[in-house]
Amino acid sequence: MKHLLSITDLTSDEIIEILDMAEDLKEKRVRGKVTDLLKNKSLAMIFEKSSTRTRVSFEVAMSDLGGHSIYLNSRDIQIGRGETVSDTAQVLSRYVAGITARVNSHKTVEDLAEHSQVPVINALSDLEHPCQILSDFLTIREYKNRLKGLKFAWIGDGNNVCNSLILGCALVGMEIAVACPEGYEPNADIVAKGRELGGNINVTNDPQEAARDADVLYTDVWVSMGDEEEREKRLSDLADYQINSELVGLSKHNVIVMHCLPAHRGEEISAEVMEGPHSVVFDQAENRLHAQKALILKLMA
Ligand code: CP
Ligand code: NVA
Repeated sequence: MKHLLSITDLTSDEIIEILDMAEDLKEKRVRGKVTDLLKNKSLAMIFEKSSTRTRVSFEVAMSDLGGHSIYLNSRDIQIGRGETVSDTAQVLSRYVAGITARVNSHKTVEDLAEHSQVPVINALSDLEHPCQILSDFLTIREYKNRLKGLKFAWIGDGNNVCNSLILGCALVGMEIAVACPEGYEPNADIVAKGRELGGNINVTNDPQEAARDADVLYTDVWVSMGDEEEREKRLSDLADYQINSELVGLSKHNVIVMHCLPAHRGEEISAEVMEGPHSVVFDQAENRLHAQKALILKLMA
């Protein structure tokens, strides 16, 4: 049995296997071919934070595969009234074939995994967002036909998505440049782990340096869930780290612009770039469905 708490819970071969499966499932869906490999299986989905894409893509993935999903807002289940994470994991394991959880603290998914008898999938924590990275890599492969050897540039806050991308890029052999203001750098342990995995990782305060000759430009919100109290300070500190036409102009002529969404036009990305010819953000959002289908098949079928 395997959990997905960090993108590094998958090997590079497993990532490629999931992307291949996702491509196949995507093509089958277009042709209306159905598979019911998760028939009679249920996925419990614990959410401590809001979600549009992750929730809906997991629910549709389960439904497309003949299974069933159960959305559990943490405020509505007994966890919200003090039942322990370990008891919750043990009880859910008696009912369902998998648990996905979006949590405030990464420790919660670790505790769930420790006490669960079924696979646990991190649907975003303060530290990582591995499901997002599978969809991102699927999208990059669709546009660039490869991952290895590309230059990936992250512009903005060195947050949970950035952490998973650093590790993911290291695994698949993509160079990554991360540009963020002082104090917003990605987690130092993650960067060290990425380098141990052989990653070519450049952390800089200069967005132009990061964007230069990039194949992929990527950003995310400046105010992540849980950071709302710092909103004003963040908007001011990150003001020079917007993906706009100037940065697009420094990158490769066929650069793709990515954003995990939700986006705030005029903050981390200009409306012009978000709507422009380089943007692949809605393909990227769609691919959450196909990548997660492959993932749950691998972990739960
Ligand atoms: N990108 C992403 O995880 O979106 P949601 O917060 O809407 O799930
Ligand atoms: N970094 C963002 C990602 C949202 C999908 C957050 O944690 O809110």
